[in-house]
Amino acid sequence: MHRADHHPSRRAFLDVSGVALAAGLVAGCSPQPARSDRPDSSAAAPLAKVAATGRHQAGIALPRSAQRNLLAVVADLGAEVAPGPLLAELGEAVRALTAGSDPQLLGLAPGDLTVTVGVGPRLVRTAGATLPGAADLPRFSRERIAPQARGGDLLLQICASDALLLPVVAAALLDRAGDRVRERWRQSGRRGTEVPVADGLTAPRNLLGFIDGIVGPHTTAEQERDLWLAGPPAVAGGTLAVLRRMELDLTRFAALSVAEQEAVFGRRRDSGVPLSGGTVASGPQLAAKTPDGRYLVPVDAHVRRANPTAVGVGHMLRRSYSTDEPLGLLFVSFQNDLRTFTATLTRMDASDALLPFTTTTASATFLILPGFDQRHPLGSRLFG
Ligand code: HEM
Repeated sequence: MHRADHHPSRRAFLDVSGVALAAGLVAGCSPQPARSDRPDSSAAAPLAKVAATGRHQAGIALPRSAQRNLLAVVADLGAEVAPGPLLAELGEAVRALTAGSDPQLLGLAPGDLTVTVGVGPRLVRTAGATLPGAADLPRFSRERIAPQARGGDLLLQICASDALLLPVVAAALLDRAGDRVRERWRQSGRRGTEVPVADGLTAPRNLLGFIDGIVGPHTTAEQERDLWLAGPPAVAGGTLAVLRRMELDLTRFAALSVAEQEAVFGRRRDSGVPLSGGTVASGPQLAAKTPDGRYLVPVDAHVRRANPTAVGVGHMLRRSYSTDEPLGLLFVSFQNDLRTFTATLTRMDASDALLPFTTTTASATFLILPGFDQRHPLGSRLFG
């Protein structure tokens, strides 16, 4: 395996070694280690596993609230590499890793680990030029993207409550792929405090202090309509992912008053309630005005510019993670039509008060393969 850029992985290990060190202090290095006959009250309860197999891959709609930590690894396939066998092997590795039976997990408990695998437009086009996922993302404003951080053939989205697992699982999968893949870029991220936003649903705060991920296709019916691909058969049960790494100008945003910050988004910072009123679960009422005729949700507020009805598209499932290096957001969305993303960002580009605080430094779209199991290997319907 050739790593195009070693820095991000080093960083991931540094992050993790901090966690490991803290855990070591608690678990092993204290002067009086916990005795085995005395239950350790500080030990966390085992996390519920998330099934890797089924109609859809895990890590999109399940678990319902995304795990706290993410590592996205984007790689290219060698020109001569057949995607079918590679994806089938990766699927098997994902099954073993999430079940905790892969020796490369080194005995670590997988907990709620999920690995979501996607293939980039170049690979999709080899299976069919008109398939969903065959189109590249266009360019947008406020991009500063190195060639290496644009696009890619393979996405491994690894998520878990336990941050320690992420680089271990990435290394196991990249080992399995061997010299058939070449890493392009990777990005780790974490979610802030989760806030309840609807029945059984939470959304995290982002680095700008706002609750992020409220509106989306959250019911099964909404997900069938806007999230999952219904066909053609080779992709049914899959979806389209968009990843955009965005640097945020925190200093400039923090210099605004709270009211100005809220006008940027169109929701209250503390509660997430739209500026047009209601509860955190309410959609913004875009027509609502003050007695003197001003819109309660400003004309350039992010929730107005990105509003699916105003854009004329379906809902995207946003599952973004905050990043510390660079400081910002790894925007992650899933939708069954790429236009849901492109038309939204095009409308934001024209006038969205949030955009001037962002610079996009990585961008890619992937067809998230349909779900798999032992009888139907990952990728077999597309590349079989
Ligand atoms: C750094 C970049 C971004 C940040 C910090 C951010 C944050 C937020 C926040 C806080 C909300 C309001 C709460 C919610 O519904 O989740 C929101 C809504 C939304 N955002 Fe973003 N967002 C960013 C970029 C984007 C991009 C690139 C897109 C898509 C092109 C997008 C699409 C949406 C949509 C569709 C909504 C829901 C609008 C509604 O119907 O109310 N966002 N975003």
